[in-house]
Amino acid sequence: MTSNLKLNRWVEEMAALCQPDQIRWCDGSEQEYNEMFQLMLATGTAERLNEELRPNSYLVRSDPADVARVEDRTFICSENEDDAGPTNNWAEPKEMREKLGGLFAGSMRGRTMYVIPFSMGPIGSHIAHIGVQLSDSPYVVANMRTMTRMGTKVLDTLGAEGNFVPCMHSVGYPLVDGREDVPWPCDGEQKYIVHFPESREIWSYGSGYGGNALLGKKCFALRIASAMARDEGWLAEHMLILKITSPEGESKYICAAFPSACGKTNLAMLNPTVKDWKVETIGDDIAWMKFGDDGRLYAINPEAGFFGVAPGTNMSSNPNAMLTLTENAIFTNCGKTPEGDVWWEDMSDPPPSLIDWRGNDWTPESDSPAAHPNARFTAVASQCPVISDEWQDPNGVPISAILFGGRRATVVPLVAEARDWQHGTFMGSIISSEKTAAAAGKIGELRRDPMAMLPFCGYNMGDYWSHWLDVGRKQGAQMPLVYYVNWFRKGDAGNFLWPGFGENSRVLKWVFERCNGSANAVNTPIGNLPTPESLDLDGLSVDDDALKTLLTVDREGWLQELPLIRDYYARFGDRMPEELTSFVDNLEKELSA
Ligand code: GTP
Ligand code: SPV
Ligand code: MN
Repeated sequence: MTSNLKLNRWVEEMAALCQPDQIRWCDGSEQEYNEMFQLMLATGTAERLNEELRPNSYLVRSDPADVARVEDRTFICSENEDDAGPTNNWAEPKEMREKLGGLFAGSMRGRTMYVIPFSMGPIGSHIAHIGVQLSDSPYVVANMRTMTRMGTKVLDTLGAEGNFVPCMHSVGYPLVDGREDVPWPCDGEQKYIVHFPESREIWSYGSGYGGNALLGKKCFALRIASAMARDEGWLAEHMLILKITSPEGESKYICAAFPSACGKTNLAMLNPTVKDWKVETIGDDIAWMKFGDDGRLYAINPEAGFFGVAPGTNMSSNPNAMLTLTENAIFTNCGKTPEGDVWWEDMSDPPPSLIDWRGNDWTPESDSPAAHPNARFTAVASQCPVISDEWQDPNGVPISAILFGGRRATVVPLVAEARDWQHGTFMGSIISSEKTAAAAGKIGELRRDPMAMLPFCGYNMGDYWSHWLDVGRKQGAQMPLVYYVNWFRKGDAGNFLWPGFGENSRVLKWVFERCNGSANAVNTPIGNLPTPESLDLDGLSVDDDALKTLLTVDREGWLQELPLIRDYYARFGDRMPEELTSFVDNLEKELSA
């Protein structure tokens, strides 16, 4: 219970609607976390992993009908359809409220309703915000404890008068009419991930997985927070935050926005291959940025843990993630070895046999993967061996550079620098990327994903771009430099031309030196590219042809992009900032010159 009247009233009202058997206020303790797993072991939701191989860790298998975010079931219910814009699903708020009222009525019968108070950001930070999630899922409780600051201390900070974002969640599987519980309750047919940006509310029904269900993450920290940020003059972005330190001991902070499953966790934790440089992690998925008195943008990581992509993670691609997962971790939809540990594709040589993510026998000869491509790990950030000392600084860290990127097999070079903030906003707005397994839908399809925010912008993307442009015009603003990077360029044989992972530190070093004015660049129509000597390629084994492709402007390719960009912009009608359209015209002129 709490002294906060608004919260008490809301909990009462929601309990009357959902009709749970009981209500439990979560305190965020370790004991409570353990209890959640006792419940999950009893229902077959979770299995305890081998204590020696993976202490205090669990494997959870979801229903195969609930394995990723569902973008086609995600709604932005602003009063006016135009305020949601052409990239969001919109539904009339009143109708949606009626719909939700019906779905949630009695949805928690036979279950416990957990009250989960959480802070996005260090408790008490002026950049942080509080939310309260109501959920009938012990899996959600356990994950929220890892992913956010959760429990009694948040209620204390909220106090009697404090404000919070209400986050309503039900897996949509009431235990009525003698229905037995199942290991992963959900409503595979009817999922609704709904946001009311004006009243700052979230309602999520039918899914227990990731961003659909851990409502502090994408729903609050991106969709609702982006709307708050627009109104209040700050930025809520799908960005990692890292600290990079030169051999001379000078540090800078860099943010990077890549679409889901395109390398944020990896870049945030990389081990640099450039000698004597150091990279440390502040966040791996989301950044909230506000102006400091000095006019610079200061970023916090609103999260407290990682909900990272498991497949592809191994001791050479991302050793620091592997070391973060050695204990106290939750694994969802990974394979399980006969020894009682987890395994996923590319973790190591495949074991001769295991149980796959669906619970079936699996061997390396099987046609389907052992782990679902969107299998995930949950672990606290403090377990990361390269977590930065400043990662919980309530004031945030001053950002020197922002990188945008995506998966592009063609056209987009390794790195290009924007001429200024407005040009950088243009670069971010034209990001496109091949779709990954992080969301349900066709994999590999190329789609525009501006600022990596396509699925996460809580309002009209045209207005979002205007907000970016406005932020850069603020009196006294000292904006970060902006870059467009691509680790995923492919050769004719379909091979990656750039080795990626730790080698990406070469690009980070160039960015650092550009911020200091000590590295050279050549001005091209698409921005400033590194001169061959300015990029540290010492000890890198990439052949000259590949390097040439990575570091030159593909004029033909870019000219072919322009009509696609124009078509895309046209979708935003009068919400499209003219300034960005004029960048397309300029680019065309420069490419044709
Ligand atoms: P979300 O958590 O969905 O937002 O994803 P993310 O952006 O944090 O992506 P993550 O770092 O988890 O990487 C996703 C996949 O991309 C993994 O399978 C990685 O192995 C792979 N990957 C990451 N960095 C690189 C890189 O530099 N080059 C290549 N080729 N693959 C990479
Ligand atoms: C993403 O899809 O960008 C994620 C995973 O970070 S989820 O939390 O499911 O949104
Ligand atoms: Mn993400």
